[in-house]
Amino acid sequence: MELLEGIYSRRSVRQYKNQPVEREQLLEIIKAGTLAPSGLNNQPWRFVIIQDQGLRNQLAALTKFGRIIERAPAAIAVFLDKKAVYHDIKDYQAMGACLQNMLLAAYAMGLGAVWLGEILKNSDQVRALLELPDDLKFMAVIAIGHPASHNQTSNRKELQEVILKEY
Ligand SMILES: Cc1cc2nc3c(=O)[nH]c(=O)nc-3n(C[C@H](O)[C@H](O)[C@H](O)COP(=O)(O)O)c2cc1C
Repeated sequence: MELLEGIYSRRSVRQYKNQPVEREQLLEIIKAGTLAPSGLNNQPWRFVIIQDQGLRNQLAALTKFGRIIERAPAAIAVFLDKKAVYHDIKDYQAMGACLQNMLLAAYAMGLGAVWLGEILKNSDQVRALLELPDDLKFMAVIAIGHPASHNQTSNRKELQEVILKEY
């Protein structure tokens, strides 16, 4: 898939076939995340792979979008390592780049994925559930599976609305 075509046509996928995702594919998605740029190349991202249904159900209980996590065969929880942080804004930007790389990689492999952020309201509970120390700051869950359909749509503002000035 051409890079631009992938960027333009990727959509969030929230419904999946009842079919597992290969562990190798999950590792490939994480690898793509780690190829994102980061300030000073500090690579502050850390990941937890969750395929276990019982654990996904417990994670699902922590967000109103829980049905997505329950039904996706795999989820990856993404964390910022506070020990690696050197500048809050720049590190958050790097995490966004990492997460977008992961979504694009999943799409390029024929998988469907969605970035879940609503669950951040229960960050402490997520860390407790995954038995992680508090120097890991919870950033998002990406739910991943084989798309049940390819009919997702989304819209964007016109360029004229978002370009403030041109000199
Ligand atoms: C920071 C962030 C948080 C998000 N949180 C959620 C979420 O909790 N639940 C959900 O269904 N989608 C979530 N999304 C996905 C957005 O709803 C989606 O990207 C947006 O509507 C645009 O649609 P598209 O990805 O199909 O282009 C989130 C996306 C981002 C970047």
